[in-house]
Amino acid sequence: MLRFSARVVVVTGAGNGLGKEYALGFAERGASVVVNDLGGSASGDGNHSSRPADEVVKLIQSRGGKAVADYHSVEDGKAIIETAIKNFGRLDILVNNAGILRDKSFMNMTEQDWDLVQRIHLRAAYLITHAAWSYMRQQKYGRIIFTTSTSGLYGNFGQANYSAAKMGLVGLSNTLALEGAKYNITCHAIAPTAYSRLTQDLLPPDAEENLKPAFVMPLVLYLCHESCTDTGSLFQVAGGWIGKVRLEKSSGAMVRRPNKPMTVEDVRDNWKDIISFATPLHHSTQAEQVTHLWDAIRKMNNNNNDDDDKVLTQTFS
Ligand code: NAI
Repeated sequence: MLRFSARVVVVTGAGNGLGKEYALGFAERGASVVVNDLGGSASGDGNHSSRPADEVVKLIQSRGGKAVADYHSVEDGKAIIETAIKNFGRLDILVNNAGILRDKSFMNMTEQDWDLVQRIHLRAAYLITHAAWSYMRQQKYGRIIFTTSTSGLYGNFGQANYSAAKMGLVGLSNTLALEGAKYNITCHAIAPTAYSRLTQDLLPPDAEENLKPAFVMPLVLYLCHESCTDTGSLFQVAGGWIGKVRLEKSSGAMVRRPNKPMTVEDVRDNWKDIISFATPLHHSTQAEQVTHLWDAIRKMNNNNNDDDDKVLTQTFS
């Protein structure tokens, strides 16, 4: 059984839905858990309440687990991390989960709708992760989860603000995975789907049964366990199904010819190759994509003697 004894975990937005399930899961396996939740509405409007965090803490304690409530907004990330340090003396795992929705068609989206969603999902994740980072670096150990969304990965009508923030988290996770590697800090992004107060009106009738937050929790716990040393991945997870997601690039076309101006027509004439995924490429590092680009440029330059009347179409597989 994978245990988290002696590990200290912060789960943001742990008063409901997915976060609550993570907090219960970590506590059941021996972790000390900071149950952060400001007890707000799904849209981030209105009053706050200590009740959701308190109830989760009570539940954990009634099962013999260790937990403390924290009612700060994730925007006060530093204070949440301090709650972990003050109560448990360390911090090992951070699950960035708190979130709100302010769905509107782009035409009707206000600056407030845009800003609040960016602040709670992206900026706050930066703030709290930054506060956690120095502790994790110092102890040379850390596990971090960012919660993205299929709305960011594939787009979703009425969620321009949310999609943008959620894709921002994928970029943040990718870069922190690199920066954290030598300190044994791993980072992953997950795109879950689960029945919760955020999604109950959007999902089909059998979702409550089939898309329980409990079917997302085991992946998050596994990624946060010390035995899992993978980093920098993106997962889709829902209903018990888990899969890894990566970027795919077409092998493309070099549409520029040596010593010739590059034209719009060169793009048009090579369009089929530019967008063809017949022989796709998967780069897992920045270095791989840079090498691929320079190989293509050098190949083109070395083809100086080719027939000038023909656009040089070159696929790089
Ligand atoms: P939920 O509404 O059930 O739980 C979110 C919790 O975050 C709430 O308890 C809320 O009080 C708390 N929260 C909101 N703003 C906060 C703030 N500023 N500071 C501290 N706590 C705050 O939502 P759910 O569905 O569990 O969502 C959790 C995360 O998963 C969110 O980031 C959401 O965007 C993401 N997600 C959920 C999906 C789903 O299908 N449920 C799909 C894709 C992503």
